[in-house]
Amino acid sequence: MELTLQHAQQWNILTEITNMKLYGASGHAKVIIDILNACNINISEIYDDNHNEIVSLHGINVCQPHKTDEEIIISIGNNSVRKNLSKSGISDKFGIAIHPSAIVSPYAEIGEGTVVMQGAIIQAGAKIGRHCIINTGASIDHDCLIEDYAHISPKATLCGNVHVGEGTQIGVGSSIVPNIKIGKWTLICAGSVVTKDMPDNCVAAGNFCEFKKFI
Ligand SMILES: CC(C)(COP(=O)(O)OP(=O)(O)OC[C@H]1O[C@@H](n2cnc3c(N)ncnc32)[C@H](O)[C@@H]1OP(=O)(O)O)[C@@H](O)C(=O)NCCC(=O)NCCS
Repeated sequence: MELTLQHAQQWNILTEITNMKLYGASGHAKVIIDILNACNINISEIYDDNHNEIVSLHGINVCQPHKTDEEIIISIGNNSVRKNLSKSGISDKFGIAIHPSAIVSPYAEIGEGTVVMQGAIIQAGAKIGRHCIINTGASIDHDCLIEDYAHISPKATLCGNVHVGEGTQIGVGSSIVPNIKIGKWTLICAGSVVTKDMPDNCVAAGNFCEFKKFI
């Protein structure tokens, strides 16, 4: 995946953004609200299909989704739901949220719609795709490539030059040694230690991590 300059520019002009909408009044959204508050970015409203039941979240109005010209972040943890919503035409502009406590190299690239949680570290040369979640305390070392819609769960550690495919989740606390390639839409279960490449569309688990089943 070749990330374009557009990604780098968007991450560099982050400080100019003052307003954002969210899609999804979820627990994940609560964390993104904290991140945007810490960045002094106002959240004007939250879209949710369940707006009749959830009317507000942390004092922010929850309303029916409708097309907007404003920047939006899809605040839903499920990777395939995020992919579908990003292609639904709800907006052409997707924002980025990076907590001030995260350390992101100026030589890293981050795609639109991606959120970087508290204490995460993204090192030089790393490329993060669109609508990814880099969760609390995750560590992504130099030259990693994280494709669109992937989720790097809390405290997961990726050594240098790891490639994570589209829509893949790296489970909480997992470790991946350098130069490993993990396929797309795969789940690496919690606490795994990955020492060899993993295919697309599978569940893999354990220390040392082994293929378990296709999904
Ligand atoms: C929840 C979870 C443990 C179960 O996954 P699942 O698809 O239902 O998998 P199963 O329970 O059918 O297990 C499949 C196999 O993997 C094994 N397995 C599952 N999780 C494992 C783990 N964390 N460590 C070691 N083995 C594990 C099971 O024992 C089973 O092995 P077997 O076939 O040899 O008996 C897994 O989805 C997971 O770890 N998800 C990541 C959760 C996470 O990190 N969330 C972060 C949210 S922010």
